[in-house]
Amino acid sequence: MMFSLDNRLALCAGFVRENSSLADIGTDHAYLPVWLALNHKIKSAVACDIRPLPLKNAQNNIDLYGVGDIVSTVLSDGLDKISPECADDIVIAGMGGELISKIISRTLWLRDENKRLILQPMTRADSLRLFLCQNGFKIINEKPCISLGKSYSVMSVAFDGIIRQCDDIFKYTGLLQFDDSIESKKYISVINSKLKKKLNAFEKDSYEFKNLLELTKKLDSLSKEDEP
Ligand SMILES: C[S@@+](CC[C@H](N)C(=O)[O-])C[C@H]1O[C@@H](n2cnc3c(N)ncnc32)[C@H](O)[C@@H]1O
Repeated sequence: MMFSLDNRLALCAGFVRENSSLADIGTDHAYLPVWLALNHKIKSAVACDIRPLPLKNAQNNIDLYGVGDIVSTVLSDGLDKISPECADDIVIAGMGGELISKIISRTLWLRDENKRLILQPMTRADSLRLFLCQNGFKIINEKPCISLGKSYSVMSVAFDGIIRQCDDIFKYTGLLQFDDSIESKKYISVINSKLKKKLNAFEKDSYEFKNLLELTKKLDSLSKEDEP
């Protein structure tokens, strides 16, 4: 029996390295590790969730698809109950950027260049990118997708200990600023619309207004679609 992943989880799955040990944090239904196991892409997986009910759903799917020899469930807040040997690649998808940052921040063994983090923030991707830059994590690759009409970004990240400058353009667009695809332009345009709404909060001659206006103009040009 087989099933397909939506574009968002498929993009996450594409970043998982062949034959790796996977930890899927906040797994919910465990679609990602189950799909990777069914497709012989991973050696093993721990499907983790902080709540027992999602973990029960995860176990049901693991049983339904018969991948219990590869995927096991663990009740865990972030990676607290996961040991480094069980996880080469760590997916944290479908949570807010600030929560993802907190989970990474308190798991010291992630400061290892051999580990790979695959991150898909639902909100506050800007805050996650800033955290990564300030804490020695490098965004190696970043790709956009559209799933059920919404724009998402997925980042592949590794620790290298280098603290990076994170200007506003990088904070809001990451590596998508260098990607000419329609999906990237759509992602940047959605972010830009949210920032434009914030302009009303400032006096027109204030530093904040001018700064934000400048940023939205730069984002306008990054999100502009090429003429046919
Ligand atoms: C919206 S679901 C995302 C499911 C799946 N990862 C995806 O992207 O489709 C978020 C899941 O994260 C779990 N979660 C929230 N905070 C967590 C934490 N600190 N540690 C582990 N799991 C957490 C929730 O219980 C929920 O099942």
